[in-house]
Amino acid sequence: MITLGITDGITGGAAIVHDGRIVAAVNEERLVRKKMAYGFPRCSIQAVFRLSGLGPSDIDNVAVATTRTYFQNEVRPWDGWFEARQNGSLRARAFAAASTLGSYRDMFPGLEDMYYQLRRPLFAARRRKVRAILEADFNISAGVKFIDHHHAHAASAYFTSGLDRALVITMDGGGDGLSSSVYEAAGGKLRKLAQTSSYNSLGNYYSYVTHICGFKAQKHEGKITGLAAHGEPRHVEVLKEFIDYRDNEIINVGKVVFLGAIEALRKRLPVDCRIQDLASSIQLHSEAIAARYVSHWLEKTGCRNIAIAGGVFANVRINQRIRELPGVESVFVHPGMDDGGLAVGAALAVNHGTALRPCIENVYFGPEYSRVDIARALETSGLSATEEMEIESSTAKLLAKGYVVARFNGRMEYGPRALGNRSILYQPTDRSVNDWLNKNLKRTEFMPFAPSTLYESAAQCYRNLSGGQDSARFMTMTFDCTEWMARHCPGVVHIDGTARPQLVKEEQNPSFHRVIAEFEKLTGLNSVINTSFNVHEEPIVCSPQDAIRAFLESNLDYLAIGPFLVRNPKPLSHPLKPALRA
Ligand SMILES: [Fe+2]
Repeated sequence: MITLGITDGITGGAAIVHDGRIVAAVNEERLVRKKMAYGFPRCSIQAVFRLSGLGPSDIDNVAVATTRTYFQNEVRPWDGWFEARQNGSLRARAFAAASTLGSYRDMFPGLEDMYYQLRRPLFAARRRKVRAILEADFNISAGVKFIDHHHAHAASAYFTSGLDRALVITMDGGGDGLSSSVYEAAGGKLRKLAQTSSYNSLGNYYSYVTHICGFKAQKHEGKITGLAAHGEPRHVEVLKEFIDYRDNEIINVGKVVFLGAIEALRKRLPVDCRIQDLASSIQLHSEAIAARYVSHWLEKTGCRNIAIAGGVFANVRINQRIRELPGVESVFVHPGMDDGGLAVGAALAVNHGTALRPCIENVYFGPEYSRVDIARALETSGLSATEEMEIESSTAKLLAKGYVVARFNGRMEYGPRALGNRSILYQPTDRSVNDWLNKNLKRTEFMPFAPSTLYESAAQCYRNLSGGQDSARFMTMTFDCTEWMARHCPGVVHIDGTARPQLVKEEQNPSFHRVIAEFEKLTGLNSVINTSFNVHEEPIVCSPQDAIRAFLESNLDYLAIGPFLVRNPKPLSHPLKPALRA
């Protein structure tokens, strides 16, 4: 059976699943070059057909994620929740209405249902429009199913985890009226045990704090996770007045949402509140809530293996905390854990095959470009390039000498992380890299760059890997670093002694593995710095043209693109620091 999966919400996209196996998956943002783009993902649908070599008549069914949302035809970049609030946009008015309704929720218990009933015709209109577009524009006559948002997250986690029996938990800001759901899965079946409403959303509180700290809500939460280690958790008691875990449930104790919650939180926090302390507080409090919530369900189900997805689990520290819970054997975080993974999740929900699959091998499900495509793009750019006998060892030599190398190779990654095919690489011994390279890339990050480490050498670098190795292949979890790592690779170790590695298996990405293995031969170091290949606030590069433009705009030293090596005519001026031998 062949299923086309679609998601038209934030970071929309499409995927094709063939008998439970993901064949192609891509998000619209990469193709239209608009960060976290939302709207009907026409380009993604075309791309997954092209990538899979399949046509509309091959499709047996279509699975669309999320049932309770509106139709958005035009694809737009996502600029954060509250950014358009000042100009009286429709979104601003919706927030104001929901904020007001939220505070009357307890006084009028039927309010939420009434609000839902009022919007029902809009949800029905979306279903009609999606079906009509698929038929008229894509010639797809197969049946279309709409899949509950959290069920799609749960399916993405379970059916890629390789686990048979598992506790499956989803957690995000909100989707289809929920912010979390809990399933017990076994034998390829998901049985729902519990759910938490969007009103009682831990993820939303994390976003409110992101906004209060001066960043974009529903966009920059990762910055808060990094910032947390730089502060003290002085405001946990205040946060407990708003969101807490009581009687085995996550509860919106403050009884406020959206703008109302932001206003109330601001009033309760001291005027001289430092953002790093607030970040530290929401991080610690969220970890504690998530840990208690998961512990409760571990105890209730007797499960020892966990599969998770949803935007909250983009939080690499929360994931570490869960993995370290007593009694947990393993935690698998779906690589596309945010809403960008919903197309894959919706497709897997209806097409997961009949036999248990091993844990997902890799996430290189996106577009790939031939040597000819790359050569043509380089020619058009006017850049002079050399074709290398072996691009991997050339890259490793440059890294060892202290150059920054942008790498473009093979199929683009699915999910939010660059895992070696669309990555900027650097040697890990230079502690100052986090200042000068971030500044050059115009990024505000509070967490150091992440390391890509040879899978077979992981124990030399990280502690307590057991049960987290599969997640670590996709950079979705932090680990405590060993003394060896802190001493030899200080550029990737956070102030709290953790790192969020990508463990690279040879069979998973032979070319990238070879770059690191060659680098190790030269330096004795089994890790390189790996950060996403993109320019400020743009999505990760997809095509050779994107790569060349980002390379030049960011003044990176070298571009290793397919078999070609390009030296930047105007490279970044930075002190050349060769890697220090371990
Ligand atoms: Fe979600």
